Amino acid sequence: MKCFGFFKDNSKTNKEKAAPSPPKTPPRSTTSSSNQVSKSSSSLASPRGISDLYKEKENSLRVFPLSELRTATNNFHRLLKIGEGGFGSVYKGSIQPANGQGDPIIVAIKRLNKNGYQGHKQWHAEVQFLGVVNHPNLVKLLGYCSVDGERGIQRLLVYEFMPNKSLEDHLFGKALPSLPWKTRLQIMLGAAQGLAYLHEGLEVQVIYRDFKASNVLLDEDFKPKLSDFGLAREGPTGDRTHVSTAVVGTYGYAAPEYVESGRLNVKIDTWSFGVVLYEILTGRRSLDRNRPAEEQKLLDWVKKYPADGKRFGMIIDPPLRNQCPLDAARKIARLADSCLNKNPKDRPTMSQIIEGIREAIEDSEGQNPEASGSNLVDSNRPFNQTGVTRSPRRVTAHQLPRPTANVNGVS
Ligand SMILES: Nc1ncnc2c1ncn2[C@@H]1O[C@H](COP(=O)(O)OP(=O)(O)OP(=O)(O)O)[C@@H](O)[C@H]1O
Ligand SMILES: [Mg+2]
Repeated sequence: MKCFGFFKDNSKTNKEKAAPSPPKTPPRSTTSSSNQVSKSSSSLASPRGISDLYKEKENSLRVFPLSELRTATNNFHRLLKIGEGGFGSVYKGSIQPANGQGDPIIVAIKRLNKNGYQGHKQWHAEVQFLGVVNHPNLVKLLGYCSVDGERGIQRLLVYEFMPNKSLEDHLFGKALPSLPWKTRLQIMLGAAQGLAYLHEGLEVQVIYRDFKASNVLLDEDFKPKLSDFGLAREGPTGDRTHVSTAVVGTYGYAAPEYVESGRLNVKIDTWSFGVVLYEILTGRRSLDRNRPAEEQKLLDWVKKYPADGKRFGMIIDPPLRNQCPLDAARKIARLADSCLNKNPKDRPTMSQIIEGIREAIEDSEGQNPEASGSNLVDSNRPFNQTGVTRSPRRVTAHQLPRPTANVNGVS
């Protein structure tokens, strides 16, 4: 599912120019600076921002010439295209190690669409955030390429290759076997740990802002890693409760208060996490235009089958019904409901969510999925990466109504 508009903040866009050719250190993030500019009273006391942290680590990223990435992908050959999202195409490629010695490294190379300033901004945010973070549940950025030529700008990102595609592909793609219940829980546990690190484990609080099944990539052991940091933002600092931004994200995953007000804090990720918990429980997309009207919006539909109700079992993904203990499923639904509290303050922290998922995993221990005859995934077998990952039911990018209370004009 693609993101909705990030072309929103005209006031900001008109005032700022895209950075020229790629500086070794990308220019100071608009995120941190704008937060400080718009609320400057406590800016002196602000902790270091993401761009400060990036400066310390930038040398760990490789800067690739475009020619090297052309070679790596056989000139971006269509047969090496493994995915396509709202911001560009992703190719499988092979690069030489930095020191020129050893075996070639398989990588994923994302080439951003040429959509000018916003594309650059997205790329820039991704370089900065992924250049700073370091966690087993976050995808590794190996390097980047940035060229401003006569034929326009080229922005590329080079990531470690994730051989088992995305959680979205496994939950909704027809070609892949159904994921077992415990694998789904383990994936959500790892994803929660990645988000907890962003929210609670860094010097800077990071709001991911685009948590969804397609951004949870799976390694050879089905361990999850979050990808796509183009929409990530620094969280509020000091005694501020939120950052004001233009509204970006993906339909079906965005927290309602954020869509209405543009006010951003970490609890918008918690909301999106709750949506994905219901996706793994039901095997249904958060938004599915191909279903009957009353079933298109997952959150509306599941409300008819409350976690403590008699009919709850009816929403469980059919392939899971013989392998997932009802108690554990109810626990996950209750956890999802808490993430989906209307008031962000009532939503749990990621640490609390981790605890909740661990309990559900414990409740599921001792269950023998093999006995149920359900479709198991051999976790040691990577799936062949053939063809382009592109869901037939993806919605095209749209623009949401502008936030009404975006007084700061910060995007
Ligand atoms: N590091 C990677 N390793 C392997 N495959 C990847 C990697 N990054 C992306 N992909 C593949 O490319 C697909 C598209 O990714 P991309 O992030 O561009 O789009 P998306 O997540 O579907 O949508 P959006 O643009 O809203 O993020 C992914 O679903 C995945 O299958
Ligand atoms: Mg993505």
